[in-house]
Amino acid sequence: MTAENVRIGVIGGSGVYRLFPDGVGEQRAIETPFGVTVTVTVGEIGGRRVAFLPRHGADHSVPPHRLDGRPVAWALATLGVRAIISTAAVGSLTPDIPVGSLVLADQLVDRTYGRPQTFFDADLVRHLPFSDPFCPELHAVALGAVDGLVPTASVVVIQGPRFSTRAESRINRSAGIDLVNMTLLPEVALAAELGMGTATLCVVTDVDSGEQAEDAVTAEAVFSRLAAAEPHILEAIGAIARAIPVDYAGRPLIDADAVASVLGWPIVT
Ligand code: ADE
Repeated sequence: MTAENVRIGVIGGSGVYRLFPDGVGEQRAIETPFGVTVTVTVGEIGGRRVAFLPRHGADHSVPPHRLDGRPVAWALATLGVRAIISTAAVGSLTPDIPVGSLVLADQLVDRTYGRPQTFFDADLVRHLPFSDPFCPELHAVALGAVDGLVPTASVVVIQGPRFSTRAESRINRSAGIDLVNMTLLPEVALAAELGMGTATLCVVTDVDSGEQAEDAVTAEAVFSRLAAAEPHILEAIGAIARAIPVDYAGRPLIDADAVASVLGWPIVT
């Protein structure tokens, strides 16, 4: 088996359930070795083939703590994807990043548990370099392609599905973390293990759980902000996809043979 030539993947977060107009794009059901078939829509942006899937499912039926990033990363890699643009709803932990901002994440803190963490498991021990969880090259491409992005932010990824208590939120703020989310890990790491680079557009929907009674995030507030932001998010994804260099090769593979054994075929960059 070899990969197809769909080099760009888009993972839609909450509020982003379709990338192409209804009826546009080819629906593909990709069987994976993880007991899950992943449905992907393959369409075109600026003449480039792009694979789209919504992280929580088209009907938002998969909650954050039940996400398995392995079939998603495996399916995208199988299509040939090297660059992933993803979106994520986030709460802000700093007055420097107000609600409504679109932010490029550049650091992650992992507070998730019980989610499949790696492709490199028993008998295949490998350690992913992850100092820069997001791809610096894609980050620069995204910054150049979209006006008004907040260029840098750290994100703590909590387990969910509940939001943080005020005390948890205070701890995250006092640790100097900028944003909070429930989904970006282990997804970004799993993609990186297969040599795919990620740039993530974070949509700031709330100020998490602050000291004031009114600073108490709710799902209703998050989803209504997301609905308002959707056209802007789709426009930004399109601009980034168009700007990704045709010869973008992805992240360096940590061990090409190990990745080939995970995928069942070698990656040719
Ligand atoms: N997604 C959007 N807002 C969030 C918050 N405050 N905490 C965790 N995930 C979020």
